[in-house]
Amino acid sequence: MSNKQNILNDVEQILLMGPGPSMVHESVYKAISLPTLGHLDPYFIRIMDAVKEQIRQAFRTSNNLSLPMSGTGSAGMETSFVNFIERDDPVLILINGVFGMRMKDVAERLGAQVDSIEFEWGTPVLVDRVRAKLEQTAYKIVAMVHAETSTGVENPVQEVGKLVRGTDSLFLVDAVTSLGGMEVDVDGWGIDIIYSGSQKCLSCPPGISPVSVSDRALEFLMNRKTKVPNWYLDLSMIINYWEGQKRAYHHTAPVNMIYALYQSLFNLLEEGLDNAFARHLINHELLVGGLEKLGLQMFVDASCRLPMLNAVVVPDGVDEAAVRKRLRDEFRIEIGAGLGPMAGKVWRIGLMGETCRPGNVERILSALREIL
Ligand SMILES: Cc1ncc(COP(=O)(O)O)c(C=O)c1O
Repeated sequence: MSNKQNILNDVEQILLMGPGPSMVHESVYKAISLPTLGHLDPYFIRIMDAVKEQIRQAFRTSNNLSLPMSGTGSAGMETSFVNFIERDDPVLILINGVFGMRMKDVAERLGAQVDSIEFEWGTPVLVDRVRAKLEQTAYKIVAMVHAETSTGVENPVQEVGKLVRGTDSLFLVDAVTSLGGMEVDVDGWGIDIIYSGSQKCLSCPPGISPVSVSDRALEFLMNRKTKVPNWYLDLSMIINYWEGQKRAYHHTAPVNMIYALYQSLFNLLEEGLDNAFARHLINHELLVGGLEKLGLQMFVDASCRLPMLNAVVVPDGVDEAAVRKRLRDEFRIEIGAGLGPMAGKVWRIGLMGETCRPGNVERILSALREIL
């Protein structure tokens, strides 16, 4: 095959300002292209151990069981439910967007007795409604999404965590969009099970999902009455590959994706978590100020807006898809459309990780100024 026929030659650099994937730092691309080691090679095991420690630091936890699962954020979500749910377990899910709905679907497929509280999309989970529910019913798991990417809302994980701590429930949190872009304090907030994804504020390509599990949750896993009903995501087996002196093969680890995750976490921790959070906030404010000057309105109230995912109301009479198409074709910028009931009503502008730089904010504002 001649070079001309290789379609990869025509992959262009697009400024990724959607809901993920985000821009990837050169050092992460370099890490991916390093020589592939054997998945049981002693040097690779050193890298695995270092990644576990980085995940602990990023999640602010001392949880022993902290590791990257093979697969995207949804694999992290499946892992977090499939290992801890047994048929008929009562589970409470707090829903205010697409990813809360996905959690419900995952838990129902496992035969859990799923109860949910739904909140209006674009508004946060209301702690008082959760309190009232927890006073009535005992659940094995209470689950919620921290940063609801479909709407741009931050949910009050810390406050719900305080309520769950007063019960016997395990607290399960989705931090796919929040990790690396805003405070996520696993130990401080009493989170038992948490997962994230690589392609948002970690600025790594999609394909790997950091997960962390408290000792309390691990005890539930080890005392299950039935086998974990999914072989690939069974943490009780995967532990034997990620922990201990002697490592046992489970599945072939995605070696180069683990290099990439290592490098992206290295970059984040080198910048400092608090500095990265401040950078997300500053650029978010810059973007919102610029959008408002263009006469655009934010979908979410300022009190619960995510810094890394900005939902913007599509003005009346504007063809939202046509604007996205022009951004992609003429300006080489990707932004996101609305999901589910938000389709056609909002644009989603991501400021995640490496994307979250003032120059990129200026690029999108100037492109929108020209188009609108
Ligand atoms: C909050 C949240 N949870 C879960 C997912 C699923 O992750 P993935 O698409 O990487 O499987 C996403 C993806 O956008 C997300 O934003």
